[in-house]
Amino acid sequence: MSKETFSLRLRAAMAREGKKQVDLIRAASEQGVKLGKSHISQYVSGKTLPRPDILHFLADTLQVDADWLRGNEPAGSDVRITDNAGNSMHSIHTIHKNNTVTEDRKMRTFKKSSKLDNVLYDVRGPVVDEAARMEESGTQILKLNIGNPAPFGFRTPDEVIYDMRQQLTECEGYSHAQGLFSARKAIMQYAQLKGIPNIAIEDIYTGNGVSELINICMSALLDDEDEILIPSPDYPLWTACATLAGGKAVHYICDEQSDWYPDIDDIRKKITDRTKAIVIINPNNPTGALYPKEVLQKIVDVAREHQLIIFSDEIYDRLVMDEEEHISIASLAPDLFCITFSGLSKSHMIAGFRIGWMVLSGNKKIAKDYIEGLKMLSNMRLCSNVPAQSIVQTALGGHQSVRGYIEPGGRVREQRDYIYKALTDIPGISAVKPKAAFYIFPKIDVKKFNITNDEQFALDLLREKKILLIHGGGFNWEQPDHFRVVYLPRIEVLKEAMGKIADFFSYYKQQL
Ligand SMILES: Cc1ncc(COP(=O)(O)O)c(C=O)c1O
Repeated sequence: MSKETFSLRLRAAMAREGKKQVDLIRAASEQGVKLGKSHISQYVSGKTLPRPDILHFLADTLQVDADWLRGNEPAGSDVRITDNAGNSMHSIHTIHKNNTVTEDRKMRTFKKSSKLDNVLYDVRGPVVDEAARMEESGTQILKLNIGNPAPFGFRTPDEVIYDMRQQLTECEGYSHAQGLFSARKAIMQYAQLKGIPNIAIEDIYTGNGVSELINICMSALLDDEDEILIPSPDYPLWTACATLAGGKAVHYICDEQSDWYPDIDDIRKKITDRTKAIVIINPNNPTGALYPKEVLQKIVDVAREHQLIIFSDEIYDRLVMDEEEHISIASLAPDLFCITFSGLSKSHMIAGFRIGWMVLSGNKKIAKDYIEGLKMLSNMRLCSNVPAQSIVQTALGGHQSVRGYIEPGGRVREQRDYIYKALTDIPGISAVKPKAAFYIFPKIDVKKFNITNDEQFALDLLREKKILLIHGGGFNWEQPDHFRVVYLPRIEVLKEAMGKIADFFSYYKQQL
């Protein structure tokens, strides 16, 4: 953001709204925003730039777009406003030397749909935007925010690459909407080995990652105000897709005191006659928890009692440590309708290839109409990425290279052990040791650090230590007392990061 552009746009917006510096200071104090006289005069004169929270306050107060104010849109002394009908109008203004402003013309601009108003997806949100801005200005950032294995040196198994090359020329056309026969057969057999009952080829759907299938499942199921139980903390795409579909995501608590297992009493309390389904994420992102059979059985009992669909996101099912076994909840629920999700993004470190799948199992008769909806949406996107489908059989059969990472001495396991110890050695930080995936969700003693806003904590850490983490709120966790660390980087890199994080917590007190 250039100081000159920002100052020009700030002055234009103030003039348009008829607001003076003193008005902004007054509005800030009313809203509990820290904005001093000297700050605002420096912004107006183009001497300094505001922090993102102040920028957003100014944009909101002056009814302009924060991106525009920041100078990210075409230059010129223009002001973006919204008319009474909610249409975005882009007014072109001229600032004269005597600081008067005249409006030259209005241009229609376009806003995102209101359907997106309550959709949150902070895994790529405002803290991440700030990191991108810092990177653009030449700062190196260590990104511990996203579970993307490849940048941390996890390579695709050679056999997978070889087989994809071999088949590439046969993958030029669309496939069957649900996927290639060979891929679906391999997925079906994998699901059968996990004890998932009553499945045939037509019950398997491939997708451009599990992400696309979550979206399809929510869109096909939820009418306005239909409720779906989703864990808190969650992988936020579930809540985002349920909300976008018009449904109401009702969060049940996963209890840190009980190894982050779902709190069955809380689930029961939150069921109403509008509840259609329950989502579980097992193994869990962001907590790294793995649910034992007793816990899964209790969830099945509740779902059976209230006739709920079970959606089970099992994308980390092959990244389970400590010689534990992953159990698919669908294997315990032959009489219920279940959809189980998995894919190759994490287990085969090919997140960029975009291949995931879902398996419909159990009592499919009760979901006949819903399944028609799933088919319709899956037909509408024609098919998922065909080259990626072509290696599913290779990936699921034979040697599983991921095992080497999670056995004793394996890279992911060593990194897990290191990060757990390093974090829990920091005074004021505690954590449950993860059993699976590559995330840990530590707890902060908020009193010790005076933390009331976890996004601010993540921003402060980013600015001071150049480390990007996602705050607990990004995972629909209500208290400002958690954050997630992706422990994919090599131990040397994690050591450096942990040194900085420990130092940060040795002095940090959040300013109100
Ligand atoms: C729990 C969970 N489900 C789904 C996904 C999305 O996976 P995909 O790459 O298959 O879209 C992720 C990605 O991080 C995840 O953590």
